[in-house]
Amino acid sequence: MSAAGPAGELSGKRVVLGVCGGIAAYKAVEICRRLTDAGALVSPVLTRGATRFVGELTFSALADEPVRTSLLGPGSPEPSPHTSLARRADAVLVAPATARFLGSYAAGIASDLLVATLLATRAPVLVCPAMHTEMWEHPAVRDNVATLRRRGTWVMEPDEGRLAGGDMGRGRLPEPAAVVAELARLLGRGESAPGRPGVGAENLTSPGAALAGRAGQAVLALAGIRALVTAGGTREPLDPVRYLGNRSSGKQGYAIAAELAARGAHVTLVTASEVPPPEGMAALERVATASEMAAAVHAAADAAHIVVMAAAVADYTAQSPAATKIKKSPGPMVLTLVPTEDILAELGRRRRPGQVLVGFAAETASGDRLVALGRAKLEAKGADLIVANDVGGPEAGFGQDLSSAVIVSRGQVVELGLVDKRVLATRLVDMAAQLLPASGRS
Ligand code: CTP
Repeated sequence: MSAAGPAGELSGKRVVLGVCGGIAAYKAVEICRRLTDAGALVSPVLTRGATRFVGELTFSALADEPVRTSLLGPGSPEPSPHTSLARRADAVLVAPATARFLGSYAAGIASDLLVATLLATRAPVLVCPAMHTEMWEHPAVRDNVATLRRRGTWVMEPDEGRLAGGDMGRGRLPEPAAVVAELARLLGRGESAPGRPGVGAENLTSPGAALAGRAGQAVLALAGIRALVTAGGTREPLDPVRYLGNRSSGKQGYAIAAELAARGAHVTLVTASEVPPPEGMAALERVATASEMAAAVHAAADAAHIVVMAAAVADYTAQSPAATKIKKSPGPMVLTLVPTEDILAELGRRRRPGQVLVGFAAETASGDRLVALGRAKLEAKGADLIVANDVGGPEAGFGQDLSSAVIVSRGQVVELGLVDKRVLATRLVDMAAQLLPASGRS
């Protein structure tokens, strides 16, 4: 028994090891060895690309069965290799998984033996992507990963570190020992992946099991977690035709709501945006003003494990909106505005133990000043996480696809720089999920 997994947990388990064509394929050799050391019966399946990086003979020598490389022909010893592999498997592990593979698997395109096997199997699947950071962060890849997670595939977050060609960043295949230990952990607990038939919120013993996104750990779904997300900019009426508004589009809140839903959370979206909301919302509340938003939020907040205030809420509203259209008159015009409720601060005061509270800080600042403003709002509002955004730049901010942001928590500052709002959503949901209590849903 090696140090790869807890003793006996892989013993007798039939594991299909899928290997895709990337430089990290060399680590799959070590993964194969560790799987067999841990007692697993390994059936290696290499894509055509993988055979250009690593030798079939190496895997055949280490594994329990000869390598299979194709659905038909010399790379396939039996007539229907995908169905026989799929039926016998206790688990399928794909390491490394390339962007091409993620795309084919998410789209259900069985263009090779590996994807065909995955489509035919009902066994738990652990996928370990490895690629350059830019590819990992590309919206197409993010979408494919979200799709797979929603369907119950376990997707391990890549590590940060040295990548092919000497580049540095996130996208590195976790160390073989970590991959094998993760598979052992998933199988050893006897859980099938969340989202697979028969496994629902009730069967997850604690939201702690829903921890997501730490490098080197599988991202588990947020099944059983209730999330409340606000999005868009509120509009305060001045008269029947005019309002006081802001430039928020709702894109960031929608990306967060979609990410939470993709991981299986039950999401209530309270939106002040006119853009159609993402799919998969459990409940949708459309509001216009800050006071309508406050009412909708307070009605849903008590039941929520995670609350994300991504909306740009007006700080002031007209004291007495005119009942009829205000006519122009010579000279300056004076409006009397009164403060609205600070919903996030009120949530901070009212929240129940264990609830994770996330706010935003829209600022026209960058660097240390942005972090300082984020920290100040974290304290002032009693939040656990604040996403401090620089909304002043030309490329990022309201209405754009990109955001220039840092995420501030009590112990951590995560600098994201200029990122796609969907990438920001993934990182934020990872961090929020890690703050959920380890046991019991309060
Ligand atoms: N927020 C809120 N209710 C308000 C105003 C803001 O809940 N009436 C929330 C926002 O949804 C966001 C956070 O508070 O999560 C910070 O909003 P922001 O507009 O950046 O800050 P303000 O608190 O309004 O302070 P200032 O405008 O002075 O920066």
